[in-house]
Amino acid sequence: MRRRVILLGPPGSGKGTVAGRLKTEFGFDHFSTGHWLRQEVAKGSALGRQAGLFLERGELVPDELVLALVKAALSQTQPDQGYLSDGFPRTLAQAVAFDTWAEVRGLGIQQVIYFECTEALVLSRITGRRSCGNCGRVYHVAMIPPKQAGRCDECGGELVQRADDTETVVRKRFQIYLRETEPLVEYYRKQGSLDVVDASQPSDEMMTRTMTLLHR
Ligand code: AP5
Repeated sequence: MRRRVILLGPPGSGKGTVAGRLKTEFGFDHFSTGHWLRQEVAKGSALGRQAGLFLERGELVPDELVLALVKAALSQTQPDQGYLSDGFPRTLAQAVAFDTWAEVRGLGIQQVIYFECTEALVLSRITGRRSCGNCGRVYHVAMIPPKQAGRCDECGGELVQRADDTETVVRKRFQIYLRETEPLVEYYRKQGSLDVVDASQPSDEMMTRTMTLLHR
């Protein structure tokens, strides 16, 4: 199974949901730059103060801040330990800079799994999303509910609705995704590392397809 993997796709395509299951069910070392940034905002750190307004508006946090965060977090990672990234890279500048940094450390990306999804589906999913304020695990009030309303199955943390999950902000995030992040599909396709998952399928089928691709 390949272990240095990127999940790529629009907001609400299910990256966090699949990544969370790969982490709990198969022990993947999962990271989400969005989750890290929200934690920094909650702590009120210097990075959180710089990033907060971008998150609130649904805009991308500047490349240099995100790259510094990821490099610091992966600085002790060994090649065979691997990583599963949800939400990074999401600009060409991030992808190129990360490739250069990772290659010399033996941490180059082995596989990119692209969750293909329409704007309409994204909107219907995100309005029902609730996330654990503690561990970041993601639920949907109707489609993927927790066992106990308002509480995380994993850690018992309180489930909250994200401030950037309003319809206006989600539409803006989707437009930014099309402009800044979708070009990465072609970038990784040319590298020969891209696989595609139809993200309109139910969660279990997305998970099965992703596992099949990881084992290829
Ligand atoms: P981030 O937290 O990464 O958000 P995102 O990419 O916009 O993606 P989402 O978390 O919204 O969606 P997802 O694909 O994980 O879907 P999910 O599994 O939750 O980023 C937030 C912000 O941080 C950005 O806007 C930016 O400001 C900043 N940021 C982060 N990384 C950055 C970077 N690299 N550079 C610059 N800025 C950065 O699923 C959605 C809902 O659908 C859930 O309710 C779920 O339960 C449900 N669901 C999932 N799959 C299914 C299914 N198959 N069937 C039915 N329901 C499903």
